[in-house]
Amino acid sequence: MSDFVSDFWSVYITVIVVAGIIGLTYLLFSQSKTTVKKGEKVETLGHVWDGDLAEYNNPLPRWWMLMFYITLIFGAVYFVLYPGLGSFPGIRGWTQVGQYKEERAQAEAKYQPLYDKYQKLDLKAVAADPNAQEMGKRLFQTYCVQCHGSDARGAKGFPNLTDKDWLYGGDPKTIETTILAGRHGQMLKRGVRHSVKRRLRTLPTT
Ligand code: HEC
Repeated sequence: MSDFVSDFWSVYITVIVVAGIIGLTYLLFSQSKTTVKKGEKVETLGHVWDGDLAEYNNPLPRWWMLMFYITLIFGAVYFVLYPGLGSFPGIRGWTQVGQYKEERAQAEAKYQPLYDKYQKLDLKAVAADPNAQEMGKRLFQTYCVQCHGSDARGAKGFPNLTDKDWLYGGDPKTIETTILAGRHGQMLKRGVRHSVKRRLRTLPTT
C-alpha cells in the first residue's frame, strides 16, 4: 500500500501530523478565550505608530475562529477516512488505483454497447459507416491530433497519415496493430545509419 522503506517514516509522519493538529487546536483554543465584555476597555499591545496609531489586542471575529475550527475538524476527519497518516490506508480504503479501475469499469459499461456493433463488422464496413466515421473523427481529435495534426498530415518526427507512404503498412489490419499495440521507432543498424547520413548530406537542406 505505501512506499515507505521502513515503518519509522510512517510513524514519523503520523506523529508530526497528529501533534500538529492537536497543537494547533490548543493554540486556537487558548486564543479563543479573549472575549471583550461590554464596556470593557481593550488593552493595547503597547505599540504606537504615527503618534496615535495603536495596536489593539482585539479578539478575532467569531466566524473567523469558527473557520479555523472547521478546517481542523475537516483535517482530522479526512485523515481518518483517507490515506495520509503514514501508511494508514484510511477506513474507506480509498486508493487512486481503485478509483481509476472503478471509473474505467463504469466507462466500459457505458461505451461498450456502442462499440459492440462495430466490433462484429469487418473493418472495411466500419470504415464506410458514416456514424463510425464521425466517431473516429472525434476520437482522432481527442487522441491523435497532438502528434499527427488536425489534418492527419503529421509534422517533423510524426508521420503523415494521409499519403501512400507507410512506415509499417497502410492496410486496415496493420493500422489496427499500430493503434492497439503501438510502434517503437527503431534506431537503425550502424552501417545503415551511416549510409543514410551519407545520403542525407547529399540532399538539399530545407
Ligand atoms: C505521442 C504522439 C503520438 C500520438 C498521440 C499518436 N501517434 Fe501515431 N505515431 C506517432 C509516431 C512518432 C509514429 C511513428 C512510429 C514509430 O516509428 O515509432 C506514429 C505512427 C503511427 C502510424 C503508422 C504510420 C505508418 O507510416 O505506418 C499510424 C497509423 C498512427 N501513428 C496512427 C495514430 C492514431 C490513429 C493515433 C490516435 C489514436 C495516434 N497515431 C496517436 C506519434 C503519435
